[in-house]
Amino acid sequence: METKLLHPNDVNVASKLLKQGELVAFPTETVYGLGALATNERAVRKVYQAKGRPSDNPLIVHLASAKEIAKYAQQIPSYFTALADHFWPGPLTVVLPLKDNLFSKSVTGGLATCAFRVPDNQIARDLLSLTGPVVAPSANTSGKPSPTEASHVLDDLAHKIAAVIDGGRTQVGVESTVIDLTDSHQITILRPGGISAKQIQAVTELPVIYDKHLLQADEAPKAPGMKYKHYSPQTKVLMLGLDSDLPEALIAYHDLRLGLLANEQLIQQSQNLVQASYSLGADKNAQSAAHNLFAGLRSLDKENLDLILVETYSGDDSYSQAYMNRLQKAAAYEYFEK
Ligand code: TXA
Ligand code: MG
Repeated sequence: METKLLHPNDVNVASKLLKQGELVAFPTETVYGLGALATNERAVRKVYQAKGRPSDNPLIVHLASAKEIAKYAQQIPSYFTALADHFWPGPLTVVLPLKDNLFSKSVTGGLATCAFRVPDNQIARDLLSLTGPVVAPSANTSGKPSPTEASHVLDDLAHKIAAVIDGGRTQVGVESTVIDLTDSHQITILRPGGISAKQIQAVTELPVIYDKHLLQADEAPKAPGMKYKHYSPQTKVLMLGLDSDLPEALIAYHDLRLGLLANEQLIQQSQNLVQASYSLGADKNAQSAAHNLFAGLRSLDKENLDLILVETYSGDDSYSQAYMNRLQKAAAYEYFEK
């Protein structure tokens, strides 16, 4: 199958393809999503197949506006309106009990709950207002870094999907924060993203906790997808616990073909000692680092390197946490040790 590269003005073409049961990737503000109509069982199954995704890892249903959620979810808590007013459209996904027999079975992988999100991207919202609810996992091969450009989608899924709408680079760069709203006493963060626990707490006035597996590696995650190996390039990735570890790491691995994924200040310190580098930003800044992480991993993975060294962030802000959650998985939790 030839994968069409569509212009943002072609949302009507994309909508037609989706309604015919085809898969179409589209930009959101976080990463590109791989879309299929949530009501079409065959199309939803094709999503799992194209990505090589395990069938027990449920999908996020994307909606054009917050008011649509009442058609699909039940036991919606009273504070939900405040959450939606503050954060939608935007990088927040909510998990709620699903009404019966609305979506194909494969959407939720057999769970009684469903994840919902209203993305903050005009192309995505124009498309969703034509199609109705669309499932959209990140448009990458399962296990690979999520796509932040149309070319990343084509690298992984060319010939497997009908089309991708090219909306340029995504802004946030890491996937949405996923929260569980099924407990009336507290909100649980299942996956960290661009919106922080503090922001959610300020709006809902409820305790916001992290799913246990995010704090302790041996706990099973409540979001099924979080248990899988993720975000991994082919090349081995090693984290630099401190920026000051860089000179020693460059000496320790001087006989390897090295890549460096870091801010420009650090890249300048490594001149001529690495084969390739990719900038996470002019200065050390977690938001910019999160925006560039996946593109950097994909780019360096094409350089035929032995090892990629990557800078880390220790802040408790949402971008530092989202960045570290993805990076730790890409690095299999390995740090450079002196
Ligand atoms: O930013 C994003 O969320 C992107 C863009 C395309 O919207 N989408 C995305 O989807 O990251 P995906 O499928 O790659 O990740 C969905 C996550 C997985 O960890 C999955 O296990 C979890 O959400 N999830 C989905 N439905 C769930 C449910 N009913 N209960 C718990 N976790 C759920
Ligand atoms: Mg994904």
